[in-house]
Amino acid sequence: MYDVIVVGSGISGLYAALNARRAGASVALISKSSLLRSNSAVASGGINAVIKSTRNDSCREHVADTIKGSDNLGRLAAINAMVSGGKEIIEDLVKMGVVFDCDENGDIAQRPFGGTKAKRTCYIGDRTGASITQTLLMQCRKEGVIIFHNHMILSIAMFKEKLSGITLLRRSDSQVIAFACKSLILAGGGYAGIYRGHSTNSQESSGDLLAIALRAKMRLVNMEFVQFHPTTLLGSGTLISEAARGEGAIIVDETGKRFTDELQTRDKLSRDIVRHQLAGRKVFLDFRHLSEETIDKKLPSARKNALNGAGIDILNELLPITPSAHYTMGGIWTRNDTSTDIDNIFACGECAYSGVHGANRLGGNSLLEAAYFGRLAGTEAARAAKKELFHPIDYALVNRESNYVEMILGGENRFNINTMRRNLGNNLYKNAGVFRTHDSLANSLEYIHYLIKVSSGLRCINKERNNNVELMSIIEFKNALIVAEAMVMSAMAREESRGAHYREDYPDTNDQKFGRDTILQRLAGTFLRITFESYLSSDWWHRIRKFFHAQ
Ligand code: FUM
Repeated sequence: MYDVIVVGSGISGLYAALNARRAGASVALISKSSLLRSNSAVASGGINAVIKSTRNDSCREHVADTIKGSDNLGRLAAINAMVSGGKEIIEDLVKMGVVFDCDENGDIAQRPFGGTKAKRTCYIGDRTGASITQTLLMQCRKEGVIIFHNHMILSIAMFKEKLSGITLLRRSDSQVIAFACKSLILAGGGYAGIYRGHSTNSQESSGDLLAIALRAKMRLVNMEFVQFHPTTLLGSGTLISEAARGEGAIIVDETGKRFTDELQTRDKLSRDIVRHQLAGRKVFLDFRHLSEETIDKKLPSARKNALNGAGIDILNELLPITPSAHYTMGGIWTRNDTSTDIDNIFACGECAYSGVHGANRLGGNSLLEAAYFGRLAGTEAARAAKKELFHPIDYALVNRESNYVEMILGGENRFNINTMRRNLGNNLYKNAGVFRTHDSLANSLEYIHYLIKVSSGLRCINKERNNNVELMSIIEFKNALIVAEAMVMSAMAREESRGAHYREDYPDTNDQKFGRDTILQRLAGTFLRITFESYLSSDWWHRIRKFFHAQ
């Protein structure tokens, strides 16, 4: 029994756990696999913050860039709050021991990232996310957060409309267990991993929490907005950080010609690259004009990843690249204080729709979002827990989850989960990728429905109870299919082009009809309802429905 349970071990989850702990709550942090496999650790190039207002930058500029980058779908109040809190977040991280790179005056150095003219991105070489994650993890351990890794959340337990806890699968012995809590923070990352084979994410990042939230009747928002990172290794999807372009690497084709602006927003740059590829060109990152000292000091991971992943030394060779799914703007509906549709459940980081990225995220804003809203979620969850009692966990739910796990562990398997996962990734990349149309999305949807049917027959080949990774993979894949369906249906409904969602059959932006959020909710059974609403109306309708429900 814990006052607060946090699911997810990226920057948002760790910060949330730490802050809830600091507010006096007993806190458990749950991670599905190894603690350092989160997407935060992959976001390497930096964290945006205006540390000092100058002629070249200010919070106002940061807000304006973020709104423009979001293609006018960002939520102003949330953006304002995050941007104003940026400096304090950096100071807090420094206090905890994060050592940012400094300039010649000893001040925190900042580099340019896409979508702005300002140098606003604070960094630690090109391993910023990993460094911050490690520091927060150490701090969580020091301050008494109880950490459970290799535990996978299966469902949210409710008792008479009140949160009572969660059920989990314990990897060490494949047992279903239950933890009680007064507040729950969902911080388990996004769903770009569903583009298996075409993603910078680890395969675990396939949106478990979004599937679980949808099953719990929580709303998902703007699922169609998937960010493709323009520069990933051709063939493997390994990220070559935007830091490379920030430090001066350029994008060329096989003739050596530069054909795009490397520091435009990721949505536009990815489209330029794919258009060039479709015209029969090959696309490369060119570092050859940068000094070895710059590369080794500021871009060591880029050099290492190129060497390990492609056998290429970027000092003197061109690096073949292509866009891959990297980040998902869509997520669980949240208010500006991270609260969700269900009392005492909060969401932050990539699994949440905080409203700050709208239709397209600026590079460097995700770590700031994770830290800012993670910290806020911790405070809010601890506050809510103080006013709450523990509620009983429905044993029937634990039993149901147990039966589900036993069913997957037992029986005979007739399908290959790895092929199915890979095929889903290939289909989505082709049909719900950088460019989409009604017909391509309909193809995806049909294929997802086929996979949903077939996946009901998935069983473990390995019947071992200890450390059965296959069992987790099957549950993960079934969640991924639910998320993929929500994503493709949202993309079909949004008949316009905006930010990262580019419909070739509707190439224009239609503010009048679609200048609002796509809200997706599961009604009875598996029926999904999609509406387009502003933040305020989506909140009001929810409150009104809740009021009448309570009468
Ligand atoms: O390119 C990168 O370093 C990624 C950063 C981010 O996603 O914010």
